[in-house]
Amino acid sequence: MSQKTWGGRFSGGTDSRVEQFTESISFDRRLYRHDIIGSQAHARMLAEVGLLTPAEADQIVSALDEIGAQIDAGKMEFSVSLEDIHTHIERALIAKLGDTGRKLHTARSRNDQVVTDLKLWTRDAIDELDGLLTELQRAFVHSAEREWGVIIPGYTHLQRAQPVLASHYFLAYVEKFQRDRERLADCRTRVNVLPLGAAALAGTSLPIDRDSVRAKLGFESVARNSLDVSSDRDFALEFVFVLSLVATHLSGWAEEWVIWSTTEFNFLDLPDAFCTGSSIMPHKKNPDVLELTRGKSGRVIGALQQLFVLVKGLPLAYNRDLQEDKTAIFDAFDTVAGCLAVAAPLVQQTKLRREVIASRLDAGFLDATTLMEALIARGVPMRSAHEAVGNLVRECEQRKCRLADLPDAQFDATAPGHGAEVKASLGVSNAIDAFTSYGSTARTEVEKQLAGWKARLGM
Ligand code: ARG
Repeated sequence: MSQKTWGGRFSGGTDSRVEQFTESISFDRRLYRHDIIGSQAHARMLAEVGLLTPAEADQIVSALDEIGAQIDAGKMEFSVSLEDIHTHIERALIAKLGDTGRKLHTARSRNDQVVTDLKLWTRDAIDELDGLLTELQRAFVHSAEREWGVIIPGYTHLQRAQPVLASHYFLAYVEKFQRDRERLADCRTRVNVLPLGAAALAGTSLPIDRDSVRAKLGFESVARNSLDVSSDRDFALEFVFVLSLVATHLSGWAEEWVIWSTTEFNFLDLPDAFCTGSSIMPHKKNPDVLELTRGKSGRVIGALQQLFVLVKGLPLAYNRDLQEDKTAIFDAFDTVAGCLAVAAPLVQQTKLRREVIASRLDAGFLDATTLMEALIARGVPMRSAHEAVGNLVRECEQRKCRLADLPDAQFDATAPGHGAEVKASLGVSNAIDAFTSYGSTARTEVEKQLAGWKARLGM
């Protein structure tokens, strides 16, 4: 008898080049745990509806446990002639149980099996990522707390804009990763719909109970349309999209910290354990972890493109092209999980060079916008105040001084009778004190946000 599960229809063997070309065991073996859990639920259900005896289901469930242990121990021999993980496990089962093993695939196709395995795997991957993202959020909150009270320049166009509390800056990343976690949770609701029971594409004439399998595997609901579900990889695209966004957030942050750790900026003290040196230049301490985080985002975004191109031309229902989804999904996940695992300790252990930052806060007119607002608050129309402060800045550039160094009369000219008062609003610390709006960098606002995050993240 043929080794192939589908050998009956074929007269001769498969060309070895075709076996090599069509195999997926080299990468889908990592689904084995999920394949086994799915098969055990399927077998139990088959017994409930009378397609297996309870004794047969018991035998299948425990034989699958043994096969799982065998794979855990690295004792399963993988061969391209058995194509994929589903066939390997089924063949091992048949080798153990004979005819009983030959009943497992009743009312099931590899088409609904593979997407069930992939959904079970993705669900676990989402949960793991959520944990990693939470750790990274905690690291940023930890920094927000440690650097409380420190003022740093805020940038737009990478030009000095307005002063912000360092804590406000760290919490900005907590927000981005929170949205990523919410997107993952949303994606999970669509992952959590059971495909099994769609069989090849049209369902089955056998009396299966899909809801029982759903409950056993912890899915929320059962996929309604068998034709849709055997071709559906939307959930995988969504998952890799969220991964791409996480990678993009990480990449922007990494770029910022690469810049901030230059001698020119010198804002950061990166931990030695997260930097590397040069083989020729003895003085170098390079931010390779940050650079690779930025670089690896390309792989993840690439994986999303790969999936789009993979599915865009597929007619219903299952097509073998879909086998190519797994390398993209696995690589995107491994890459992002790897980045997150080093990002959290790197954030936690990086310190701001407070004196360096403080010594340069007078440069770049970080208080100009607050000055303008002080004028507006005293009745000067916004456009006039904007122009007046612009003129003062031009004057400072000529005199090579700060706004606060201009003579009092300059301020009285724009806000008659309020010159001294307005001038007293200058300087980054006063600027920070002046903020009041919800979500701003005002101390009281940031304090509330920080407390809120600590509570939400269980810190
Ligand atoms: N290895 C295949 C995949 O990953 C499993 C499904 C194969 N189905 C089939 N009808 N050939 O997609």
